[in-house]
Amino acid sequence: MASDYLWFEGIPFPSVGYRLEDLKSVKNEFVVRDEDFITLSYPKSGTNWLLEIICLIYSKGDPNWVQSVPMWERSPWIETEEAYEQLVKKEGPRIYTSHLPTQLFPKSFFNSKAKMIYLLRNPRDVLTSNFYFFRLLSGVKHPESFDQCFEWFLQGNVPYGSWFDHCQGWLQMRGKENFLTVTYEELHQDIRATVEKIIQFLGKKLGPEELDSVLKHASFKAMRDNKMSNLTLIPDTVMDHSQGQLLRKGVTGDWKHHFTVAQSEAFDKMYQEKMAGFPPGIFPWDM
Ligand code: A3P
Repeated sequence: MASDYLWFEGIPFPSVGYRLEDLKSVKNEFVVRDEDFITLSYPKSGTNWLLEIICLIYSKGDPNWVQSVPMWERSPWIETEEAYEQLVKKEGPRIYTSHLPTQLFPKSFFNSKAKMIYLLRNPRDVLTSNFYFFRLLSGVKHPESFDQCFEWFLQGNVPYGSWFDHCQGWLQMRGKENFLTVTYEELHQDIRATVEKIIQFLGKKLGPEELDSVLKHASFKAMRDNKMSNLTLIPDTVMDHSQGQLLRKGVTGDWKHHFTVAQSEAFDKMYQEKMAGFPPGIFPWDM
């Protein structure tokens, strides 16, 4: 099932579900509209959780939409096969998702007023989640061990390339009024306050019962049981459901059960070098 990547401008993509012509069109031709809303993240940062929250905010807590339409139709990943054409044809406000690094994202975004949420997660937990998830997928190189996954992650030899480059690229947008950062850790720590912050950013209004319903239907258990959100609708030829699932543990700090002391030190060293340009303590996992 494993295979090599599809490479575009030095970034590895899964070779199943992606096409070079789409990646080129997305970057050069896709026209972002001011009323679009975009969720951007590096893979395994909790993207699907945030998307469920966004969809439930749009439906004012009514679970009908999230329970009847698959996640990838509600908010397509712009860079995946066919999403480009679907989105170009779609009239009215559009919501969509992407894992693209800045240099491959539609150029038109950077002159638009479209709102974007950039979701971040402790990269150590991203790495751990990456190890368990990408080995389920076809069109992706499968590491032989956690140690190999660790090496590949630090080298950026994983889908969508280096976490460090991704994060550094997108965080250049910090301070712009159409750009909000949210972390997986803050969703965990205080989901109500974080969802309220997202509602405000989107310019929506929800009553207390509607907000309660968003929180209820975006819980780990509700999402794990929702086949429109848990990826079980993906065919077995693309995702090996017998070996694992998207909603694996859903916790913070699982990396501590996987990294050796030497790996932890090597990671810290690279992190400090690469993230030196950011003020200390801006990420919850630095505290
Ligand atoms: P783990 O593998 O650490 O469990 P993405 O959506 O970007 O692929 O990220 C997947 C990660 O988000 C997985 O992490 C998954 O369990 C977690 N996740 C998804 N939905 C969640 C929820 N409702 N609550 C907490 N974590 C969730």
